[in-house]
Amino acid sequence: MRFSELLIKKRDGARLTRDEISYIVNAYTKGEIPDYQMSAFLMAVYFKGMDKEETVNLTKAMAESGDTLDLSGIKGVKIDKHSTGGIGDKTTLIIGPILASLGIPVAKMSGRGLGFTGGTIDKLESIDGFDTSIPEERFIDNINRIGIALSGQTKNLAPADKKIYALRDVTGTVENLSLIASSIMSKKLAANADGICLDVTYGSGAFMKTKEDAKKLAEAMTDIGRMAGKRVVALITDMNEPLGHMVGNNLEVIEAVKVLKGEAEERLLDVCLSLAGAMIYLSGRLGDYERLTDEVLEKGKDMALGQIKNGEAYKKFIEFVNAQGGDTELITNPDKFKKAKLKLPVVAKEQGYLVSRDASLVGEAVLYLGGGRENIGDSIKPEVGVELLMKSGDKVAIGETYAFIYADDEISGDNAIKCVEAAYEISAKLPTIESSVYAFVE
Ligand code: URA
Repeated sequence: MRFSELLIKKRDGARLTRDEISYIVNAYTKGEIPDYQMSAFLMAVYFKGMDKEETVNLTKAMAESGDTLDLSGIKGVKIDKHSTGGIGDKTTLIIGPILASLGIPVAKMSGRGLGFTGGTIDKLESIDGFDTSIPEERFIDNINRIGIALSGQTKNLAPADKKIYALRDVTGTVENLSLIASSIMSKKLAANADGICLDVTYGSGAFMKTKEDAKKLAEAMTDIGRMAGKRVVALITDMNEPLGHMVGNNLEVIEAVKVLKGEAEERLLDVCLSLAGAMIYLSGRLGDYERLTDEVLEKGKDMALGQIKNGEAYKKFIEFVNAQGGDTELITNPDKFKKAKLKLPVVAKEQGYLVSRDASLVGEAVLYLGGGRENIGDSIKPEVGVELLMKSGDKVAIGETYAFIYADDEISGDNAIKCVEAAYEISAKLPTIESSVYAFVE
């Protein structure tokens, strides 16, 4: 096959066959196609698109380009979860113990990504001693014994996506539905769970800015999953404002513990219960339902809430931390977590209703404070972050503190204050508050 001919074929809007797509993915991964030609191909896809079948073939070729996880040693139906990203997203820390406490195995392999705040791995590593590089045998053994384990990615999952995503990032070809959906789903297919629950976020703190675009992405990803023989549910959730009150690594663990103890912020709890409910449905624990309906989701949410109310999810979190070498005293007494040197108030300069304008600016504040990572290998400060005392729609008086910045120095603290001030406006008009979960797609 000649790559230049395939490139022209796509440029002219024709469909590529499975073999042609497979050739492109494999040859590029092996270094047989130069970046300049692949860039032109990606731009052709960006403008001409790919149909469902092409998108599935692209996803499968990328999923098969490296290792796939072997979860056969784990008993039970394995359900994976993925979020398209957000600010203050600590849902995995809450959902994992809920599911494990119900006997649904949670086998989570996470990458150490770039971003405003750390990923789940970084958040857990803010617990002294917590080991995220446990060997595979211990990972499997922990899941079979206590129902949950989490580790950093040791296997080379979907290397084709890694290489293509890096090229898309610098060639203006990220924002294409087929390319985004296949990129995310290739990693999920390689992770090999029986079912996948996707949290597709929309809004100012998310990758997709509107509900409509998030729904299109959710549909594209559930189509791929179905065509690849997996059960997939996607929830479309609001990320116009950070999720919960805390943004930052150990601050988010502290908030997750609060939720597990039944002291949750309403919207964060609703998103967690909805995702957990959908995962319980996918696991088959609710019964033999063919489709997810509002009623079925409510049943799943009730079951998840029950595990918080009866204390089992909290107990499971302690067990999980202990099994991976973490200091459980920090969980039972979160006051012992390392604290930032400074606690700086963000004060209202006017009176009115707080309105979230740009959630990503709260993430940027945390990045300034040293709680996120700009380059792979950067170290992360576990103790810095933002505490939002109020949320959109709350009334604020002049001089009232509506957020705290936890900083290790004045300069980063001042920058973070400016970011949080810009993230919110104070308006005379009560803002419309969207429901935390907009829809689900199966
Ligand atoms: N996240 C991914 O993993 N891939 C994309 O293309 C976009 C977001």
